Amino acid sequence: MNSPTETFDWKGRAGPFTLSLTPTVFRPTHISLALADSLDIRPGETVVDIGCGSGILSFVAAKLGAGRAYGSDISEESVRVATENARILGLADRTEFRTGSLFEPLRDVTADVIIGDVSGIPDDIAEISGWFPGGYAGGPTGAEVPVAMLESMGDCLRPGGRMYLPTATIQDENRVLAAARRIFGAANLAEVVEREFPLPTLVAKSKAVAKLMADGLIALRQRGSRLLWRLAIWRCVRP
Ligand SMILES: C[S@@+](CC[C@H](N)C(=O)[O-])C[C@H]1O[C@@H](n2cnc3c(N)ncnc32)[C@H](O)[C@@H]1O
Repeated sequence: MNSPTETFDWKGRAGPFTLSLTPTVFRPTHISLALADSLDIRPGETVVDIGCGSGILSFVAAKLGAGRAYGSDISEESVRVATENARILGLADRTEFRTGSLFEPLRDVTADVIIGDVSGIPDDIAEISGWFPGGYAGGPTGAEVPVAMLESMGDCLRPGGRMYLPTATIQDENRVLAAARRIFGAANLAEVVEREFPLPTLVAKSKAVAKLMADGLIALRQRGSRLLWRLAIWRCVRP
């Protein structure tokens, strides 16, 4: 088992503070920053953070007033690091991290808010980019893991509760949104944040990206010599 060997300075919402990471734990990204910006957390609320990684979004939720935040991650190392980060940040009394897939370790929790930031990047792009050093990417089209998350939510979210769901044009976004509309009802989805980012050149020029584009699974926008992908954060309210 690795011990924390790196630090990461979070300068996003509810920061600044410093996290410990190990080489296989996901480093917070632009998506983490956008998700943090999108969160509406009311005092005392219970938050579930699926795909918690280092624990960053649970810590933001706790600092914004959540009564308790529970994270799950399939990576045992992530859960160990998130638990250690909670201790260092003085948030161990309000956060708890459990190892397992999606909602499986959290069946005893009913949430007011779910942060659905589980891996959603296609496996081949994840491999080229190195964005998932722990090896748990989003499936062949990047939709498989987020759709499995949506379909297994069950009663973990209370009626009237909300899920914050990222989608991106660098995954089969239509399939993720179709599942979200099926589960929450189309009228209960609202886009709350939209941002665009350039794809690193190595990734943009890869055969994996060319194939996913040719298959109509991802949709990137050309601007000059760069390919841009668009991120959206959706607030989905359970009827
Ligand atoms: C995009 S990262 C986000 C991490 C964190 N929320 C952040 O903002 O830095 C996605 C996380 O989902 C985890 N993951 C992938 N498949 C999973 C699954 N089936 N169940 C739980 N977590 C999973 C990965 O290990 C990774 O830590």
